[in-house]
Amino acid sequence: MAHRWKNDLTRDDVTPYDAFLNRRQLMGGFAGLGLAAMAGTKAQAADLEPNTWEEITTYNNFYEFGTGKDDPAKNAHRLTTSPWSVTIDGMVDRPGDYKFEEIMAAMTIEERIYRFRCVEAWSMVVPWNGFELKDLLDLAGVQDGAKYVSFETLYRPDEMVGQKYGSLDWPYVEGLRLDEALHPLTMMATGIYGKTLPNQNGAPMRLVVPWKYGFKSIKSIVKISVTDKEPPTSWNKANGREYGFYSNVNPEVDHPRWSQATERQIGGGLFAKRIPTLMFNGYEEEVAGLYEGMDLQRFF
Ligand code: MTE
Repeated sequence: MAHRWKNDLTRDDVTPYDAFLNRRQLMGGFAGLGLAAMAGTKAQAADLEPNTWEEITTYNNFYEFGTGKDDPAKNAHRLTTSPWSVTIDGMVDRPGDYKFEEIMAAMTIEERIYRFRCVEAWSMVVPWNGFELKDLLDLAGVQDGAKYVSFETLYRPDEMVGQKYGSLDWPYVEGLRLDEALHPLTMMATGIYGKTLPNQNGAPMRLVVPWKYGFKSIKSIVKISVTDKEPPTSWNKANGREYGFYSNVNPEVDHPRWSQATERQIGGGLFAKRIPTLMFNGYEEEVAGLYEGMDLQRFF
């Protein structure tokens, strides 16, 4: 059954997508009240209102398909996502190549509406479908002494045009501390709005860690390794001064080149005010305990 967390409202708890669209259209129809101004107030209200399918699937970061925000939506159709398997290895009792269908059959799929905050200081609200990463790690059986989990994206330059360029060191890799990986908020997403995950959003399976900057949420995963050493991560390798291993959303720790105190909501419209960024992206109550006693300026 779905666990209920303070911040992962299900779609029934918030304005249903269609009702929301209708309301936007309705409001947009009023003279003198532009769509943009109305949309600017969304998600400042008490509840999280998901971004539209259009916004979530056309404004993306997926450098394997190019560095422009609309490149993934244009180029990711070339990616073949079937057959797909995920190698799980390292400190696990049952290492092996797990077929995507086998994983899906073994997991309970639920919907989680999460805030999503990119390190570039824009944000969205996404209604993900997927399962807890912990359930997949349990399937493989994490061994005593394990401390970290690393993740790797597919490397297939024939289909991933951006991999022909050195914008990053391919394949894209990420990592979490084991307790972060096992946290009930950490999920593997396989869908959005109840539909299959679009390629540009990381099909067929991508990580979602809602209290960390978006780049930790690695897409199109083909390998998961359980280890006792902190694994290398793509953005940290590219620029260690700007991107740390932890990368927890923190309005008090600025990026060396810009403030992290506020964020721009995608879909908010041209005239929308920036909103304050929340500690741990609003999940402080759930995750602050993971970092007790840690200097978050130093371990950024
Ligand atoms: N994963 C891979 N493999 N390659 C990437 O370029 N970009 C990251 C993250 N995961 C990225 C990735 C960044 S910077 C962000 S903000 C999110 O994916 C964007 O997710 P979205 O496009 O679904 O919003």
